[in-house]
Amino acid sequence: MTDTRETLRRHILELVAEYYATAHAPRPFVPGQTRVQYAGRVYDAQEMTAAVDSLLDFWLTAGPRAAALEDGLADFLGLRHALLVNSGSSANLVAVAALCSRRLERPLQPGDEVITPAMGFPTTVAPILQNQLTPVFVDCRLGDYNLDPAQLEPALSARTRAIFVAHTLGNPVEMAALMDVARAHDLYVIEDACDALGSTYDGQMVGSFGDLGTLSFYPAHHMTTGEGGAVVTNSPRLARIARSIRDWGRDCWCRHDSPPTGACNRRFEWTIPGLDEPYDHRYLFVEIGYNLKMTDVQAAIGVAQLEKLPGFVAARRRNFAALYAGLQQYEEFLLLPTWSERADPSWFAFPITVREGAPFTRRDLTTFLEARNVETRLLFAGNILRQPGYLDVPHRVVGSLPNSDRVLRATFFVGVYPGLDTPRLDYMLACFEDFFTAQRRT
Ligand SMILES: Cc1ncc(COP(=O)(O)O)c(C=O)c1O
Repeated sequence: MTDTRETLRRHILELVAEYYATAHAPRPFVPGQTRVQYAGRVYDAQEMTAAVDSLLDFWLTAGPRAAALEDGLADFLGLRHALLVNSGSSANLVAVAALCSRRLERPLQPGDEVITPAMGFPTTVAPILQNQLTPVFVDCRLGDYNLDPAQLEPALSARTRAIFVAHTLGNPVEMAALMDVARAHDLYVIEDACDALGSTYDGQMVGSFGDLGTLSFYPAHHMTTGEGGAVVTNSPRLARIARSIRDWGRDCWCRHDSPPTGACNRRFEWTIPGLDEPYDHRYLFVEIGYNLKMTDVQAAIGVAQLEKLPGFVAARRRNFAALYAGLQQYEEFLLLPTWSERADPSWFAFPITVREGAPFTRRDLTTFLEARNVETRLLFAGNILRQPGYLDVPHRVVGSLPNSDRVLRATFFVGVYPGLDTPRLDYMLACFEDFFTAQRRT
């Protein structure tokens, strides 16, 4: 029976690999016809067989693959805890909610202030508002598109309790200066590393400096599980709170392989205040929680992707370097990315700002590239305070955010993801060259 099962499983997985080779294997690049994507899933038969293998187990909810992925991610980042969630946005929500837990000695309270850049992705800011905290917006720098640590001191008030910062497009924030301010003023730090898995600052992985870090595994990101994300931390207490918030608010931290008596080994002996008999830990609810868990099929894909992550990061760096070398000749009109000498970015994409005074607009350049099948994207929300959903949100702001406004008007990015090979990168650069040649003629 077991033999038949194993033979069938092997046969199915061999067929899946064959199916991958027939239906999914990368096709040759045809310049002008094949879309040069800014990002995308990079996978092969390994991910497809891992997903089907997990489906044959039919565990469905977080199980052995989720446990393996959590352990693998924690190891990769050099941290004690990684908790899988169903998106990077959920990771941000869990991280902020965790810092509001009444089980902390100094939880964030409604009306407390969280310093965050105005330029970035909306779901870095949304959880601040969703938890009745007040965002204090600071400007970004042009070039690295990150928060300027010199803006932190002027942003402080008596209510400031935390900094929530994203490493923009994989480019590490100046973490040494940021952590100095955080320590000096006793501020919590959350790092949104959704776009920055594998980036280092002073040789340390970003996402591992603050109290909590967050990751996204949406297909555009450094590795994918379809939808998915993770909250990472070195603090056992914050991990326990974050897990509870992810898992309906319950206290139990059992995994799929915990014994019937629970990971705590006294599952049936917990107490509820006022109840004179013991209560099952599985049903002890200590937080106002959500259900933001990942499935085991997604985690199976993630385990296969994590194995490839070092190669993905290396490819992103290589592709970035090739584009940088090719675009340097246009620096008179295009502001190319900058980064700290203490940083080794694992780039999400290649940001470009059209300089003031250039004889063309961002729209001229992006429509030219898009018409030639080179994908471009805007740098997320630009200045979030200009976005319709955020016009009336309670907030404080430091200065007039000129750089965030400039990003809104003049910045875009193109891809560096591992799916780009030399022919695609050369084609992309040839399109830039065509644009500038056409410009010179007008
Ligand atoms: C910086 C940043 N944070 C958070 C997110 C949200 O991640 P997700 O799409 O997995 O919800 C994104 C999305 O791309 C992002 O770029």
